[in-house]
Amino acid sequence: MFFDTRPKLSVHVMQTHETFACAQDESLLQGMLRLGRKGIPVGCVNGGCGVCKVHVIEGQCRPLGPISRAHVSATEEAHGFTLACRVAPVTAIQLEVVGKFEKPFRKGFTTSVNP
Ligand code: FES
Repeated sequence: MFFDTRPKLSVHVMQTHETFACAQDESLLQGMLRLGRKGIPVGCVNGGCGVCKVHVIEGQCRPLGPISRAHVSATEEAHGFTLACRVAPVTAIQLEVVGKFEKPFRKGFTTSVNP
């Protein structure tokens, strides 16, 4: 059995009050998938489709690669909007899921699973 011993940071989803742990070398989307919430869209996973758009309210992320300007404008990015598949946490994060990404987070709560 594999145990992930990487240090992790806390990421809080404002809408559902769920918190998940995310390593500094993985995307917010990868960490979010461990919530086990049904319907989390896993689209292109390379910043191109925009389905994983989030608004970082508090905390800092670092880019893992380019994001599509068709889905996050430079102005939006300056105000904390980004794509969860293309950023990793640098500090603890508080975020809102936005756009198409909101739907799976509106269907009630599931049990959080944090390693
Ligand atoms: S999954 Fe396509 S932009 Fe994130």
